[in-house]
Amino acid sequence: MAYQDFNMDNQWLPFTPNRHFRKEPRVFVAASGMNFTTHDGRQVVDGISSLWCVGAGHNRREINEAIKQQLDTLDYATAFQASNDKAFLAAEMIAELAPGDLNKVLFCNSGSEAADTSLKLALAYHRARGEGHRNVFIGRERGYHGVGFGGMSVGGIPGNRKVFGTAMLPRVDHLRFIHDPSRNAYIHGVEPELEEDLLAELETRILPLHDPSNVAAIIVEPVAGSAGWYLPPKGYLKRLREICDKHGILLIFDEVITGFGRMGTPFAADFYGVVPDMLNFAKCVTNGVIPLGGVVCRDFIYDAMMNTNAPEHGIEFFHGYTYSGHPVSCAAAIATMTLLKEEKLFERAAKMGPVLGDAMHSAMKGLPNVIGIRSLGLAAVVELAPLAGSPGKRAYDIFLDCYQKGSLVRPAGDNLVLAPPYIVENSHIDQLVSTLAASIKQHA
Ligand SMILES: Cc1ncc(COP(=O)(O)O)c(C=O)c1O
Repeated sequence: MAYQDFNMDNQWLPFTPNRHFRKEPRVFVAASGMNFTTHDGRQVVDGISSLWCVGAGHNRREINEAIKQQLDTLDYATAFQASNDKAFLAAEMIAELAPGDLNKVLFCNSGSEAADTSLKLALAYHRARGEGHRNVFIGRERGYHGVGFGGMSVGGIPGNRKVFGTAMLPRVDHLRFIHDPSRNAYIHGVEPELEEDLLAELETRILPLHDPSNVAAIIVEPVAGSAGWYLPPKGYLKRLREICDKHGILLIFDEVITGFGRMGTPFAADFYGVVPDMLNFAKCVTNGVIPLGGVVCRDFIYDAMMNTNAPEHGIEFFHGYTYSGHPVSCAAAIATMTLLKEEKLFERAAKMGPVLGDAMHSAMKGLPNVIGIRSLGLAAVVELAPLAGSPGKRAYDIFLDCYQKGSLVRPAGDNLVLAPPYIVENSHIDQLVSTLAASIKQHA
């Protein structure tokens, strides 16, 4: 197949420079294990688990078979006023995997929907308890919670926000960004330490400004993934938990990237030993094969919502999606979670993380324009000095070059991210890291 065989007149690509893509398209036609096949028959190693989704690697027979079988058994069933057997089982497995009493699962179809679901649930929960005035949300600078109006408002990536100003939710504030490049430019498999207390301003400025009694929820990614794998300082999430508890504020972890194994544990909540009140998930829950997302919340939130004087035929939470708990997606989730467990893939991610981190640090420290390297869990990032007047261009050019050389890496600003499937072997890490290092030198 040649590029001219594709009619590229109709698909508008998401989060992609479309004009440049038409000149230099990247088109996949097949995938298996760690590799893609491109339209022109080349092999490309998937160094980013296809946007953090494909933990178990591509084209897993067990997941594909579960989907096929589900299609032949129950293709779809309405999600309102009824449900399906696979949705109950998937929810049970997720609740079992999630820490603490995170036991009640609301399904949706994506990480963006999970963000908005969690924010809406926070408002509804407080109102159900007679605290409807709690309507302030706090996100964090450079956080990413998808592209819905709620998720975008609590998100903090400037490029995602600047065009949509007046449509933002009104009562939102943001915590400071968690990274200090002057101290923690290089993070090698450990939690960074910071002398400065990044959360002091939450207690001394942000909460007093809004009054803590008005704050509904704080939402953070445990590790800031989309912005470029920025790691929280030691103790940060525990302290955030304490502050939320002190003021009756709900803590939401957006684990769309970190959930289902990226840290070598089921969730980042396990890795950091902090149980949030809601945990958002998507991506790896189905190995990326089919859309599914959700929010798993603690029992007390569900109980408060059920503790209503409304008649029993009354709906307790006016929220949901036509495809909430879609049987085919849930069949894929069940098969994925079974596979992750049977093949001990969380443990494998924990084992391969340091291999990736060691390779990145030893190959890239000291290369031209490298100003930071961060690795923890099965993900590692090299940060480059931006080209003067053209932020993001250097990383974008390197990404294109790596692709031509058979390695898919991810540019995020001037970061280049590697987050391979958990099945990654040393040889793939060698290829990904050496290709990236060579390209960084070439683009000096
Ligand atoms: C932390 C986080 N939340 C939400 C989302 C949005 O997910 P989706 O693209 O499935 O809507 C993402 C996507 O990368 C994410 O990383």
